[in-house]
Amino acid sequence: MKKTFSLVLVLCFFLEVFAQQGNNENSVLAVKNERLSLDKGWRFHPGDIPFPIIKGHNATYTSTKAARATGAAAPGYDDKSWRELDLPHDWAVEMPFDSTENLSQGYKQRGYGWYRRHFKLDNSDRGKHLELQFDGIATHATIWVNGTVVHRNWCGYTSSYIDVSPLVKYGDEINTIAIRVDAVAQEGWWYEGAGIYRHTWLVKRSPLHIITDGVYANPVKTASGSWEIPAEITLQNSGKGNVSNIEVEVSVFDKSGKQIAQNTNKTSVKLFDQAIASLSIPVSNPHLWSVDDPYLYTVETKVKQNGKLLDEATTKCGFRTIRFDKDTGFYLNDQPMKLKGTCNHIDHAGVGVAMPNSLWEFRLRKLKEMGSNAYRCAHNPPSREFLEACDSIGIMVMDENRNFNSSPEYIRQLQWLIQRDRNHPSVILWSVFNEEPMQGTEIGYEMVRRMSTEVKKLDTTRPVTAAMNGGLFSEINVSQAADVVGFNYQSYAYDDFRKANPHMCLTSSEDVSCVMQRGQYVTDHSKNLLDSYDTQHPDWGTTHRKSWKDINERPFLAGCFVWTGFDYKGEPTPFAWPTVSSNFGIMDLCGFPKSAYYIYQAFWLDRPILRLEPHWNWPADSIGKNIKVMAISNLDKVKLIVNGKTIAEENVDKYNFNSWDIPYQPGKLEAIGYRSGKEVIRTKVETTDEPVSIQLIADRSSIDGDGWDAMPITVQALDKKGRPVPTANMLIEFEVSGDGKLIGVGNGDPNSHELDKATTRSLYHGLAQAIIQSNENTNGNVIVTAKSKGLKSATISIPVRQVAQIPFVARVSPTLVLDKWLLSPSTTSRPDPNLKLSDNDMNSWEPIRNGQLQTLEKGKYQVYRSTFTPYKLQQTEGGRILFRNLTGKAEIWLNGQLIGTKDKAEASDFVAEFPPLAGDYQLNVLIEGNTGDKVGLGGMVSILDRAITSK
Ligand code: GAL
Repeated sequence: MKKTFSLVLVLCFFLEVFAQQGNNENSVLAVKNERLSLDKGWRFHPGDIPFPIIKGHNATYTSTKAARATGAAAPGYDDKSWRELDLPHDWAVEMPFDSTENLSQGYKQRGYGWYRRHFKLDNSDRGKHLELQFDGIATHATIWVNGTVVHRNWCGYTSSYIDVSPLVKYGDEINTIAIRVDAVAQEGWWYEGAGIYRHTWLVKRSPLHIITDGVYANPVKTASGSWEIPAEITLQNSGKGNVSNIEVEVSVFDKSGKQIAQNTNKTSVKLFDQAIASLSIPVSNPHLWSVDDPYLYTVETKVKQNGKLLDEATTKCGFRTIRFDKDTGFYLNDQPMKLKGTCNHIDHAGVGVAMPNSLWEFRLRKLKEMGSNAYRCAHNPPSREFLEACDSIGIMVMDENRNFNSSPEYIRQLQWLIQRDRNHPSVILWSVFNEEPMQGTEIGYEMVRRMSTEVKKLDTTRPVTAAMNGGLFSEINVSQAADVVGFNYQSYAYDDFRKANPHMCLTSSEDVSCVMQRGQYVTDHSKNLLDSYDTQHPDWGTTHRKSWKDINERPFLAGCFVWTGFDYKGEPTPFAWPTVSSNFGIMDLCGFPKSAYYIYQAFWLDRPILRLEPHWNWPADSIGKNIKVMAISNLDKVKLIVNGKTIAEENVDKYNFNSWDIPYQPGKLEAIGYRSGKEVIRTKVETTDEPVSIQLIADRSSIDGDGWDAMPITVQALDKKGRPVPTANMLIEFEVSGDGKLIGVGNGDPNSHELDKATTRSLYHGLAQAIIQSNENTNGNVIVTAKSKGLKSATISIPVRQVAQIPFVARVSPTLVLDKWLLSPSTTSRPDPNLKLSDNDMNSWEPIRNGQLQTLEKGKYQVYRSTFTPYKLQQTEGGRILFRNLTGKAEIWLNGQLIGTKDKAEASDFVAEFPPLAGDYQLNVLIEGNTGDKVGLGGMVSILDRAITSK
């Protein structure tokens, strides 16, 4: 008896081990992960496509089921005539300016739009974890995959990660993504663009994998002064059973690729669950990240089981400390540092919000050259690529949440932001809101308290701020729930607030709002014109010079965030139509510097800066009239020489600079700058001659041949001595050939209604910009030619560098595939092949998919039914129905007419032709065989155009 008992125990033990193995190691699929771009080959339909109104019991019943979406969301919808395009795409930027549209959105029509993309998956992808990623869609999006709604994203700035593993088809079958974009929805009072304006991806991973944004590896300095990376790796198991014995290995590499630290930990993940593997990686004497030396380390995370690699991820990190002090402001690596920041929206001339990655790099470089060290993402999460550029260029970021809302869906959006961005050394502040009417109330306070707590659950290393433009002195207000109080304007309250709240850390979160137009030196409200002398601002704002003085002289303020670094479409304050973009920028919409740019160079850079404003090309009737001349500098003394005569030699006013009224005579303005009594810099402005030629200046010496890299080209007109003419305004015509294309044009004029997507653009105060992009897989040249009537043309040839291509999901042209069938019960006597089902009968026929044969259980006949709407061309010209692997004898009936008979029982492909017809088609297939035979639709059934011959 005892023996039997122990035998049973041993047996149970073995069974248990066996079961565990069956569930675990044996079933763990290991695949190399892939992140494939889905940007190419979308079809786009501007405007909405209303869903059909469904009536009738059966149709209603069916339309409510998974994979049975209707209208343009249905896989079989005819999108053949839709425009084909590659992402990122902003349809609003393609629209003309329209005075009846919303000024906040740049007078551009937004509305609704639909996108569709078809793709195939290899049979070998079966079993992998498959995720679609949409980095940003403006503004509300509903996403279907193969006729099933998979996501609704109600924020234009947050990404969507969608597990589509159970829903997709493999082999010859076609998968269809359909997206309805609602850009009537507005989340901002600035230009937001419209459409799928950020990148899209298909990610393939092992079922046991690291989730998207699942590596948290952000170095911290411990209390004892040593450094470590407290890593948290979030794993997910979407395989076939629980998985144990998983090894997570995290290695850190320096810039030269040398491994400097490593650690491992073990974990297990239950089926359809997540687990976090935590481990700490000590790092000794790391090279610190700073704005001057943005040194990045690479973190490689590998997930293994018994030595077999299941998944891996590469992230970057930087070792740096940040600290806000209530009395002395901000510290980076324990060094006091004023935040010299700008606030910015996300659109650029020519491309709108569909920004190529390299334009971010261009913009950040311009800011850095100005002396800026910080950037506020106003008022929404930026793109992933933007933060990568900030990390490597060395710009600190206030990363901002869009929607102020503490309800579950919005907390989820906030969590997404923190989880995605918390490894970036550039990110130093989380901002939960901008100027919310409830900021001075208990409700606002309670909301921020909750949102801040959610942030802290995911990242305790950065403070939470909120950008307040009021409510600061209310008894209960959100400053009491923030770590750093953000002031939007209200410079009058800096001192009073500090006095009342000496324990709080403070920064300006938004300041200035001075308005100016590049190269414009006279303000004329009747013509919507603003001068560039730093004089014009709305009531709530101030000049650049006063604002910086206020902030610079208060050590307790961490720094400034000027509204704005760059102009943006919309918000044309202080004007309305015909002004279509903002005037706040330190640079214009193309990134061309306005006077303010030199003001900040003088404030923020140590090297000698000396800039004379304005140009010296005034019309003949200005001769003798006084013109204000401003010398912007960071020197001790400046001398102004006009046409060879010294006019002034003055000590420099550190904040206001020096200006003089000079009677205009064509010729030369010269300035000499002195430091400690020594000449350190000279500059001049000359009256030029008429323009005679065009000059093109490429931003970089080469472009990468990957189809993504883009580059702005500066366009200007030169006089006969080769001097740029600052007043030139002629129309320029562009031709781009070779290995690239023109993707947009601009000139920075907020009053211009010339199109962004065009092959011509006028110079505005001497400048225009053409943005070119390489073609994929090229290594030749992009040739850009600019012509203008009466001027010598210019041509430049930009070498295209051969680089690794961005792996992408192949384009598939749309094909109407019938994969939803109803199957009748089998009968011994021949049924009426066109037998109609009663409208309320949802149960006597069975819904099936083609591709699997059915056994004729009790009888000789079976009928398959499917309805479809042929593509428009097929309705007018007729078409063919191609049955792959049709098995059994068959009759093909369409709308009650016999269109094909297959006499042989063996499996074969079969084609039936149909004549032109409009509307919905009822297709019935009568199959005949013997009881026990396997018969039916053994393969794909597709509807082909008449012109296409079946293979
Ligand atoms: C602020 C706001 C910004 C912008 C700015 C213009 O109040 O936060 O988004 O509208 O005013 O001055």
